[in-house]
Amino acid sequence: MVHNFNAGPSILPKEVFEEAAASVLSFNDTGLSILEFGHRTAAFEAVMQEARALLKELMSLDAHHEVLFLHGGASTQFMQVPMNLLDVKETAAFTDTGVWAYKAIKEAKIFGKVEVVCSSRDKNYSYLPADFAVPNDAKYLHITTNNTIYGTQWQTIPVTSNPLVADMSSDILSRTIDFNAFDLIYAGAQKNIGAAGVSIVVVSKNILGKTKRIIPAMMDYRNHIKEGSMLNTPPVFAVYVCMLTLRWLKKQGGVQAIEKLNNEKAAMLYAEIDRNHLFKGTVATKDRSKMNVCFVMNDPALEPAFLKYVSDANIVGIKGHRSVGGFRASLYNALPISSVEVLTALMKNFEKTAD
Ligand SMILES: Cc1ncc(COP(=O)(O)O)c(C=O)c1O
Repeated sequence: MVHNFNAGPSILPKEVFEEAAASVLSFNDTGLSILEFGHRTAAFEAVMQEARALLKELMSLDAHHEVLFLHGGASTQFMQVPMNLLDVKETAAFTDTGVWAYKAIKEAKIFGKVEVVCSSRDKNYSYLPADFAVPNDAKYLHITTNNTIYGTQWQTIPVTSNPLVADMSSDILSRTIDFNAFDLIYAGAQKNIGAAGVSIVVVSKNILGKTKRIIPAMMDYRNHIKEGSMLNTPPVFAVYVCMLTLRWLKKQGGVQAIEKLNNEKAAMLYAEIDRNHLFKGTVATKDRSKMNVCFVMNDPALEPAFLKYVSDANIVGIKGHRSVGGFRASLYNALPISSVEVLTALMKNFEKTAD
């Protein structure tokens, strides 16, 4: 068995792969592959509707919030959000907590003014700034709830009277938070929700339609809402995989149940990092992510040997991002706790052999 700790695209439930694989051959017993299925068919429209309904249910969204399945990945949202929400002379507030946040800042500057209200760039994004003030007139505050590369995660979501926008790409549906507190949430699907090729946008209708800018049709959220995420050909297969994964999550008991498991997985791995004298975590303890666990070895010269040791035991995807080094174990929803048990056992054994 392979233990997949990849940061994304990443592990999905086995039963999702099995059902998706069967549907590549014959979708809904039609004899047609899902890959050759028209998006304007009743069968696919049912898939899209179920995916949207499941997301609304799992996030307990209120009636103001709409769910969209769009193309272009989270990176397209870096520009689509300010294009829809920010006029040229208006200001958006940003928290600069990682490379993805930084990219979002750069894109927003194309459309309006940006005020960076806090930054942890000075220490290679290894912590989350504690105190910052958001200007009253800021059109919105943008946060990245989980910083995938560095392994930091807001444990409590900053409270602000400004509309709140979040890049939730790497921790969406992993923990119980009040999703209605956000005016806009976006996420690439390829970590906790499904296959690469589709992104999720959850948006409150109340914040749309206020900019004076002319928005190209494909970029205007209102058009996608009106057409039920079928303004043009949606990424049919990617949406289908999302629907299967959301069904799986509901069957597990929803976000609350998966959060319990995610807490156990993260606690187990951090406990071993803290106990084992060969390893150390790379971020401030209070800001540790439960999705992406970053760690290094006290003696960096041992890192290639440890990587080979775990790779030989079928551990995949734990090499750290080049900007942090060391290791990063991603513990997304579909990763079973048994994979974390295997990794921590290997860390213990490696410690013994290194003595
Ligand atoms: C927090 C975060 N935001 C944005 C992105 C970019 O996502 P995409 O490749 O879907 O554009 C990533 C990718 O890993 C991410 O982790």
